[in-house]
Amino acid sequence: MSKQSQWKTSTGFILASAGSAIGLGAMWKFPYMAGVYGGGAFLLMFLVFTIFIGLPLLIMEFTIGKLGRTYTTAIFGKLSGKKWTNIIGWSGNLAVFVLFGFYSVVGGWIIIYIAQVAMQLVGLGSGTLGSIHFDQVISNPVYTIIGQGIFILITMVIVMLGVEHGLEKASKVMMPLLFVFLILIVIKSLSLDGAAEGVRFILEPRMEDLSMQGVLFALGQSFFALSLGTTGMITYASYAPKEMTIKTSALSIVIMNIIVSLLAGLAIFPAINAFGYKPEEGPGLLFKVLPRVFEQMSFGARFLLDFPLSYSYLRALTSSISLLELNVSIFTKNDNRKRTKVAVIGSVLVFLISIPATLSFSSLSGIHFGAGSIFDNMDFLVSNILMPLGAFATTLFVGQLLKMKDLEKVFGRDRLKLFVPWYYLVKYVLPVVILLVFVMQLFK
Ligand code: PFF
Repeated sequence: MSKQSQWKTSTGFILASAGSAIGLGAMWKFPYMAGVYGGGAFLLMFLVFTIFIGLPLLIMEFTIGKLGRTYTTAIFGKLSGKKWTNIIGWSGNLAVFVLFGFYSVVGGWIIIYIAQVAMQLVGLGSGTLGSIHFDQVISNPVYTIIGQGIFILITMVIVMLGVEHGLEKASKVMMPLLFVFLILIVIKSLSLDGAAEGVRFILEPRMEDLSMQGVLFALGQSFFALSLGTTGMITYASYAPKEMTIKTSALSIVIMNIIVSLLAGLAIFPAINAFGYKPEEGPGLLFKVLPRVFEQMSFGARFLLDFPLSYSYLRALTSSISLLELNVSIFTKNDNRKRTKVAVIGSVLVFLISIPATLSFSSLSGIHFGAGSIFDNMDFLVSNILMPLGAFATTLFVGQLLKMKDLEKVFGRDRLKLFVPWYYLVKYVLPVVILLVFVMQLFK
């Protein structure tokens, strides 16, 4: 974000940060993870973690941003007077960089999907819309590399031109539209044969289906979906208007994130049985199942749903723009002359690291280690290691190095007397909880 892109109102700030935070995490990753790790039980853990860990951590990141008002690679040093603490900012930026690497793989699938839909709608594609079988697309190395190249290119051009402020303004309409569109898709899915079973799968918590690994991934999912531990949200808050209310903003984002995740689950799982897929289909779940929902529909009806779906998918761009922007801003330090160069170098590097990730669905699919494929390992490194560690370090930073009274000043009006419990939660409880979960994951 450039300095001039300060949001004038608290609502503007909420929408802009929601535009960054609410993206593929809720729409693509949540259903895929819930499908693999226990459906309703995973949802329950995700809700518990999001509300009791994610929300206080988001409040913490907003508080640091509002207090420090500078770059994430300088903000920790500025607030504590200890330069070495800036390492937390650097680690967050590393997380964002790797995250963009595998995010753009999914972004590439979106580009291919939309291109196919568009071609078939104007009569250029062969076959019908229903004949798009995404399994084949995902496993085609050439298509997918071109797709992600285009996704990164679009992101790069927007960041280079510095026009993301325009997009942020547009988010006033874009966010509510996303809810309306997702609801339309959910309604269609619910009308399919066997829908009830899918609804039960995602809403009914069968604790026996939950593994220790599922619990860890649910925590990783809460971090990923709220962008925690990456300093992304700190950056947004550092440009927030004075009247930005930390608690309301954090709560709004958490609620929106939960609603979008639930809607995505309700769009996908009811359709799974109808088309003979399994919930544990993996990262391609969204792309394999939803196009099939439209298969037997008339041209007009299909168009009516494909447009909202493509739109919902494209929301991934507002997140990818913020991912690139986060890295660009720490290197340009608001010197716009450097913007083009830094954006191009950053994008090329992201493109390079995203190639092995995309090939894990095709030529490199045989390579398995640690958390699974190369793609899985990149995701694991970010969601289950860098993000929790970043958040852990930030809780120590806030609890041990910042003064309680400084934090209280920016916390905002506190009629409910939430500051003290929040502060002690961040100081004593959350670091222990995050560390515990983290250590369990290493020795699982
Ligand atoms: N939270 C985003 C999503 O769920 O798609 C991903 C993300 C965006 C993470 C920006 C970190 C970030 F700084």
